[in-house]
Amino acid sequence: MIDPTPIYDAATAFWKSSALFAACRVGLFDALNEPAKAEDLAKQLDLSERGALALLDACVALDLLEKNEGIYSNTPTGKRYLTSTSPESLLVTLELQANTYPMWMNLSESVKKGQPAIPPQDLLGGDRELTRQFVVGMHQRALGIAESLVNVVDLSGCRLMADIGGGPGTYSTMILKRYPELRSRIFDLAPIQEVAKALVSTSGVADRIEMIPCDATADDFGDGYDAALISGLLHRMTPEICQNILEKVYTGMESGGKLVLNDLFTLDGKPALAVLFGLQFLLTNETGGTHDAGDMAAWTSDAGFEDVQITAMFPYMFITARKA
Ligand SMILES: C[S@@+](CC[C@H](N)C(=O)[O-])C[C@H]1O[C@@H](n2cnc3c(N)ncnc32)[C@H](O)[C@@H]1O
Repeated sequence: MIDPTPIYDAATAFWKSSALFAACRVGLFDALNEPAKAEDLAKQLDLSERGALALLDACVALDLLEKNEGIYSNTPTGKRYLTSTSPESLLVTLELQANTYPMWMNLSESVKKGQPAIPPQDLLGGDRELTRQFVVGMHQRALGIAESLVNVVDLSGCRLMADIGGGPGTYSTMILKRYPELRSRIFDLAPIQEVAKALVSTSGVADRIEMIPCDATADDFGDGYDAALISGLLHRMTPEICQNILEKVYTGMESGGKLVLNDLFTLDGKPALAVLFGLQFLLTNETGGTHDAGDMAAWTSDAGFEDVQITAMFPYMFITARKA
């Protein structure tokens, strides 16, 4: 028999997402800061007992909760990432995923037309609440994963960083905490910076950060910087615009400067998460999709950079390079 498991797995993957989103929305993980029985949780959260039991058991099966003699409790992972009081909470980013979930039902239409399923501006200032969720969600996600980049990339000796498409500024703030002599200029679209300012102002390093409204497809990034970070921006762009942005960064950078690109790239058509991310950009943007790390490294060299290196740190890859 030819194994149909990959088909069943793909066909039912949305059950898992739906269970996770529903559990977050009804407040299951916050409530389980104190272990409890299903009937008590149902009363506390105003849920039907039947629904509470089914959802709780689904979360146990997904390793999101633990169950012991009828008492449910958070796993260490759930407590850390799925409760609203945790500094590493992912609840806002998951709420954004849940809000954009219905658009995936229109994927076949987007595939036919090559057009997004929602207005691209919704997340970039068009819809106030979605924009807030987008910026705070990026912040939460970066808090969880930026440390791996901060720990591996060496910016010692650098004085000024251009953080292009810097969004909530979380990467900049984490890097500045590591390098007390470094300052950062964060470039992003004006509506995103309006939301980001509040996050940056409480970061403890706001006095070393300048927020500069900019459209990276049209504007340049000034000069005088000896480090540049482009994290999560280039997947929105066509290859031509990526190349243009890399050339502008090269032109404005001081000799000896360091470039860091951080994104979901593919390498030889893998990993699946990065490939599927391309569909997300078909659904939400007029252009873009996941780029191949080898192509991006070649464009980086073409822009003039040297010592171009690719490092994979699942789920992200980063590309580092230097201006001679
Ligand atoms: C996925 S987020 C990455 C944010 C941040 N660098 C990080 O890695 O957490 C992409 C960022 O690119 C910004 N962006 C999108 N189009 C842009 C453009 N044309 N010019 C400048 N920034 C843009 C978005 O507003 C968003 O903040």
